[in-house]
Order: sequence, then C-alpha cells, then structure tokens
Amino acid sequence: MEFFKFCISLLVLQTLLTISRITATVSPSCPVVFREYIGALGKNVTFSDVPINPNVEFHFLLSFAIDYTNTISPEPTNGDFLIYWDTDNLTPSHISSIKAKHKNVRVGMSLGGDTVNGKNATFAPTSITSWVRNAIYSITKIAKEYNLDAIDIDYEHFNVDPDTFAECIGRLLYFLKQNNVISYTSIAPYADDSVQVHYLALWRKYGHLIDYINFQFYAYVKGTTIPQFLQYFETQRCNYKGGKILVSFGTNNIGGLSPEHGFFDACTILRSQGKLHGIFIWSADDSMKDHFRYEKLSQNLLASAT
Ligand SMILES: *[C@@H]1O[C@H](CO)[C@@H](O)[C@H](O)[C@H]1NC(C)=O
Ligand SMILES: *[C@@H]1O[C@H](CO)[C@@H](O)[C@H](O)[C@H]1NC(C)=O
Repeated sequence: MEFFKFCISLLVLQTLLTISRITATVSPSCPVVFREYIGALGKNVTFSDVPINPNVEFHFLLSFAIDYTNTISPEPTNGDFLIYWDTDNLTPSHISSIKAKHKNVRVGMSLGGDTVNGKNATFAPTSITSWVRNAIYSITKIAKEYNLDAIDIDYEHFNVDPDTFAECIGRLLYFLKQNNVISYTSIAPYADDSVQVHYLALWRKYGHLIDYINFQFYAYVKGTTIPQFLQYFETQRCNYKGGKILVSFGTNNIGGLSPEHGFFDACTILRSQGKLHGIFIWSADDSMKDHFRYEKLSQNLLASAT
C-alpha cells in the first residue's frame, strides 16, 4: 500500500515536471526579434557600438555578400559569393566576441542588396543547378568562417523569371537548413510589382523554409501615416500568408513611417492585435550619428510586457 502511494506521488511529480516543461517552451508564445543591417556603408561601425537589450533576440545582418566580381566594373559570378561588408570592423573575431558577451546575439549575412560598386546587383544565374552548386559552396565557406546563424535574401534586381529565382533560392535555403549551416532564414521584399512577383513565387513554393519576412516598409513613400502603415501591413500579411512579417524603418531619412511620425504607436497597435513579431532597422551605419537612439527605443518596446 505504501509502495503504491509512493508510485502515485512519483507519477504526480513526473506529470507536474512535464507540464512545467511544456509551459516553458510554449511561452512566451511568440519570441520577438530585433534585427539590424550593418556594414554596407564603410563607416567603421562595429557590433559593440550598437546597444543590445538582453531581453530580445538580437540579429545582426551583415550587408552584403554578392555574387559579383569585386572590380571597377563588377560582373555576375553565377553564385560565387564575395564579401562586400566592412571587413575591417566586422571580422570573425568581432563576431565571436560579441556573441560571447551577449548570449542573445545571432549574426547573419544578407545576399544581394541594391548595387555593387555603383552597378545594379542583379540576380543573374547561368542555370539553376550551376548557380545553386556555386552558391552552396561559397556561402557555406563564408558561414563557417564567420560562424553565422542566419541568411537574408535581399535581391532587388532580376534578369530571370520568378520561377527560376524561386528554384535557385529555395534549393539554396533547403540545403543550408538541412545541413545546419544556418538556423534562420529571411527574405527582404518591398512593394514594387517586379520585385514582389519574384518573392511571392519563392514564398508560394518554399515559404515553409522562411522564418521571417523583413519587409522593407521604408520603401513606401515618405510621410506614410499610421493608418496607411497598418493597411500596408495587412496587405503584406495577406501576400505572405502565415509568415512572420517584421516591421521596419530606415535611419537614413528614407521613406515609410518614421519613429518621429508614429512608428512605435503603430507597433503598439500591432502588438495589441498579436501581430508584432519583431522590428528591423536599415541600418546601423546610418544610426551612429544619432547614437542608436531608435535601436534602444525599438528594443525597449519589444522587451516590455504587452
Ligand atoms: C575608417 O577607419 C579607417 C582606418 O582607421 C580610416 O582610414 C577611415 O577614414 C575611417 N572612415 C570613416 C568614415 O570614419
Ligand atoms: C537597375 O535596376 C532598375 C530597376 O530594377 C532598372 O530600372 C534600371 O534600368 C537598372 N539599371 C541598369 C543600368 O541596368
């Protein structure tokens, strides 16, 4: 009888432990992320310049790796990626030291971007299989050297049809995740039909491999109002159904809804609706002049209770 009671209490204890473990993994129900592009403008910004709140998941996105030659007149290399970010201030040892100091920091790299040495950084594969083979090889090499956690797809110019883009990127993401080269993937579209058609084709076929949509809300016109911003957000939620759409602004006086005009109010509204998955900023290089004021405010907002 005593033994029976003992077994029952063991069972109860075990059940309690299991319940507490389940609760721990399920909540907070949706961890929020703060992401920031860094290193594109040659302003000597480094990771430790940027304030990091310990209560958010923090992702730096190195800008950029591009499959173009690094020459006066750059030419496409069919998936052989080279590093174009500031390699003096954003080295593998800078990465290991910022990660050692801040357990919540992850570092990724962004592919493509707008221009390369003044030319469009156009997505221009020779064939799907050759581009994917070269991209897997060059990206894996860089990811291992820099101990990267994430990859972001940021092409803005295309000379292939949407399905070819979707196949190339989809196969690349599949390989990188399957082989644990990186843990997080994202895409960075903006509201331009010729750009969106490529990312939507990718999303339709390979959306299950994409963790975040870094939607460039700062590519909308300057002076966007809060209601317009919320409308744009709904449009993109509908386009990228089921995706984690991150909201964004630029610290380079570009377009969209700025912090001065209600960006954080819009975030609070989205959060009350359970739709705020995170914020990203373009870019750390531009934020240095204001001492990363909005990086602090963004992370405070994300870290504060609802
Ligand atoms: C960045 O650092 C290099 C080396 O110290 C220096 O020559 C260059 O002028 C700096 N650039 C800026 C924009 O501060
Ligand atoms: C660069 O890309 C833009 C838009 O994608 C296009 O309108 C422009 O003609 C391109 N420039 C060149 C030189 O190809």
